[in-house]
Amino acid sequence: MPVILAIESSCDETSAAICADGVMLSNVIANQTIHEAYGGVVPELASRVHQQNIVPAVQQALLNAKVNKNDIDAVAFTRGPGLLGSLLVGVSFAKAFALAKNLPLIEVNHMQAHVLAHFIGDNKPRFPFLCLTVSGGHTQIVLVKDYFDMEVIGQTLDDAAGEAMDKTSKILGLPYPGGPLIDKYARLGNADAYKFPEPQIPGLDFSFSGLKTSILYFIRDNTARNPDFVQENLNDICASVEKRIATILLNKLEKAALEYNIQDIALAGGVSANTGLRLGLQALCAKRGWNAFIPKMEYCTDNAAMIAIAGYHKYLKGDFIGQDVAPLARMPF
Ligand code: KG4
Ligand code: ZN
Repeated sequence: MPVILAIESSCDETSAAICADGVMLSNVIANQTIHEAYGGVVPELASRVHQQNIVPAVQQALLNAKVNKNDIDAVAFTRGPGLLGSLLVGVSFAKAFALAKNLPLIEVNHMQAHVLAHFIGDNKPRFPFLCLTVSGGHTQIVLVKDYFDMEVIGQTLDDAAGEAMDKTSKILGLPYPGGPLIDKYARLGNADAYKFPEPQIPGLDFSFSGLKTSILYFIRDNTARNPDFVQENLNDICASVEKRIATILLNKLEKAALEYNIQDIALAGGVSANTGLRLGLQALCAKRGWNAFIPKMEYCTDNAAMIAIAGYHKYLKGDFIGQDVAPLARMPF
């Protein structure tokens, strides 16, 4: 019955989790609010705040799980992809802890972990399934054949879906990160008020940069006519943008499921917290008779629980890594 301590520090959340035999006992997430003032994550500041947060986050995770640090059997950590300075804090902590306690180390790919978050709890998809992983840095349709046998069959050619959310909110004058605010205002608006274009990209790939430009021109032109345009129509603009981003994602996901003849369809990553996307996937799966898998909110955005569950399955395979491991800003599957 392995007890695993997991560390996540790839971007701007410092997180620590404990799982025992695949059951999650705690998942502590320390958010960094310092970046709001800069309109985006400042890497140097992120790594400094990780340094402040990492020890308290681990202490709190042990406390919440009622686990003594001497009872840990292995340490799992995010090796990449992510911000190098941020990753370095988590990787260094994991290595130091494992060295001090003479424990095995388990490296985890952050993007694989987002997918494997679906194996926390009882409602698990069956292999092979499709997972749309949508975050601030990635937009991928992943064909998941086994725990660590994943293939990216579609991805963005430019901006990520979360980036499209955050850049739109910046255009609208909203603070960072804008995704959750677009979601909030969209609930109060008419999603058919404005029509934004759907990019015509062949195959299963995505593009969001054209959409961003069309939103920019739309706001610029309307604000020239009426300086209060955004203020007066914020809910409708957010609802229409959210609908377009969700339909771009879901149309490709539907195409992929038909092409690969898959009935279990999952969402992962920070943007899977989006209400319009969650409702859209449920509607699509109801229409097609497919099974929709949507993670709990706390497992959508960055968290160490997903690192812990990935670490647990690697532990079962005896897949460990040496003390000479270094973080990777880019880390393919
Ligand atoms: O996975 P994540 O926490 O971090 C990365 O690895 O990037 O994803 C963060 C992204 C941000 O772009 C944020 O705006 C977006 O997820 N996001 C949302 C919502 N919650 C987070 N986008 C739309 N609606 C939400 N409710
Ligand atoms: Zn992430």
